[in-house]
Amino acid sequence: MKINLVEKNIENNGAEIEIIFVKNIENLADKEILENLEFKPKDESCILLAESKKIYVGYEEDNYDCIAIATATAIKKLQTTKFNKAKLELTEKLENNFKAIVEGAILGEYKFTIYKSEKDNKKIELDILVANKSENLEKILKESKIISKAVNKARDMVNTPPADFYPKIMAKKAKKIAEDLELDIKIEGEKFLKENGMNAMLNVGVASIHESQLIHMSYKPQNSQAKIVLVGKGLTYDSGGLSLKPADFMVTMKSDKSGGCAVIATMWAIAKLQLPFEVHGIVGAVENMIGGNAYKPDDVLKAKNGKTIEIRNTDAEGRLVLADCLCYAQDEIKDIDYIFDYATLTGACVVGVGEYTTGIMGNNEILKRNAVLAALRSGEYATTLDFNRFLKKAIKSEIADICNIANTRYGGAITAGMFLDNFITDENKNKWIHFDIAGPAFVEKPWGYNPHGASGTGVRMTIKFLQDLLKNN
Ligand code: BES
Ligand code: ZN
Ligand code: ZN
Repeated sequence: MKINLVEKNIENNGAEIEIIFVKNIENLADKEILENLEFKPKDESCILLAESKKIYVGYEEDNYDCIAIATATAIKKLQTTKFNKAKLELTEKLENNFKAIVEGAILGEYKFTIYKSEKDNKKIELDILVANKSENLEKILKESKIISKAVNKARDMVNTPPADFYPKIMAKKAKKIAEDLELDIKIEGEKFLKENGMNAMLNVGVASIHESQLIHMSYKPQNSQAKIVLVGKGLTYDSGGLSLKPADFMVTMKSDKSGGCAVIATMWAIAKLQLPFEVHGIVGAVENMIGGNAYKPDDVLKAKNGKTIEIRNTDAEGRLVLADCLCYAQDEIKDIDYIFDYATLTGACVVGVGEYTTGIMGNNEILKRNAVLAALRSGEYATTLDFNRFLKKAIKSEIADICNIANTRYGGAITAGMFLDNFITDENKNKWIHFDIAGPAFVEKPWGYNPHGASGTGVRMTIKFLQDLLKNN
C-alpha cells in the first residue's frame, strides 16, 4: 500500500473515495442516511455510501487499538470495491493516533494469498490529508511503514507451510535480509551443534530429514548505545516428536517458528530504522519429527552449559532448543544489556491468559513492567506471569539436573519459563525476559486488524521497547 501525507489545500489529489472516522454521528452531513441504514459508531462498524463516495467507519475511543481497527476496517471495505485510491483527513483529534492509522492500514490490508490460484491483491493508495506537513508526522509515517512491513514479513514466513519452510529455508530468508541490509550473519548446521555441545537442540531435530540450523544475525552500528540479544524459537514444524501430538493439536504447528520469524523480521526493522543499538538475532531453526533415530522420553541430554536434562516428553522441545541457543548467545556475546527470547512455548500460556496476550516472564520486575508497557503502547497485548520458589521444584529431576516437563498440571507457562532460567548466567539474570507468544502469534480467526493465521507478534513490542530505551538514554 502506498500511503502519502498530503496538505489539505492541495486540490484534487485524485482520491476516489473518502474515509471518515465516526465516534459521534450528530454533526455529520450524511447523518440521516446513516441513521436510516442503522449505522452505529461502534468499533468495526462500517458503511460505504457509493453515491457520495464515502466510507464511514465507527470507533469508540481515541486510542491505538480503536483507530487501528477502524482504519483496517475501512481498508478492508475498500478492498471489496473497484476504488483504488482513498483519502482520510487527519483531524486534530486524530493526530495523536497517526501511527495507529498507518499501521492499521498496512496491517489491515495484509492477506496471505501465495497459495491461492486467484489472488485479489489490488494495490491501494491512501492519501492522509493534513493542514500542515510536519517533520514529526513524516517521521511517524516513515517509521510506522517500516514497523508494519516488518510485521507482515513475519506473518508471511509464519504462514508458509512446513513443506516450503524448513530450517534451511529459514536460514536462507535470514541470509537474504542480512545481505540486503549489510548485517553480519553466521549460519551453522548440526556439525557445529555437535562440536559445541548443543545436544539439547541437536536431539530435537535429529529425526527430521531437514538439518537443524543455528542462525546468528548481527547489526552493529557505530553509534551503539547498548547491546541487545534477541533469541527465537524457530520450530518450522512441531509434530510433538515421539510424544506425538493428537491430530487436532498438530494442525497450526507450522506456527511454532513464530518466535524465530519475529526475531528475523525485527532485525530487518532495526536495521531499516537504523536504531543505535548493537543487536544480535539468534534463531534455533529445527523440525521436531518422529523416526527410528528420534530422541525419546527417558533420554538424558546434556546442554551447552553442561546441565543434564531428563526428557519426559518430546513435545516440550522448544525449551530444549532455546536452552542451547541462550547458552550460545551468552557464550558468544559479552556485556549484554538485554537478552530477550520469543517462543510459542506452551499451550498453558494460551489457557492462562487467552489467545491474544503474550506472557512475559523473567527475574527483573522493573524490566518486565517496562516490557509490558512497551507491548501495550505498541498495540500488542501482554501481561506478566510471576515465577515462584514452589513451582521451581516442579521441574526437578530424580536422575538429571532438571526435567523438561513439570510434575504438576498447573502453571505450565511459568514452569517452562523457569526451565529456561536454568540457562541464563548469573550475570544476565536481571537482563533477561522470556516472551511466551503461543497465543497471539497465530489465531485461526481474524481479530481487529489481524487476519486469520499469523499476526507477527513480538515485532512491534520489541521495536517500541528499543525506542523507549532511546528516549530514556
Ligand atoms: N509448540 C508447543 C506449544 C504451543 C501450543 C504453541 C499451542 C502454540 C499453540 C510446545 O512445543 C508444546 O508442545 N508444549 C507442550 C508442553 C507440555 C508437553 C509440557 C504443551 O504446551 O502442551
Ligand atoms: Zn511441542
Ligand atoms: Zn513447540
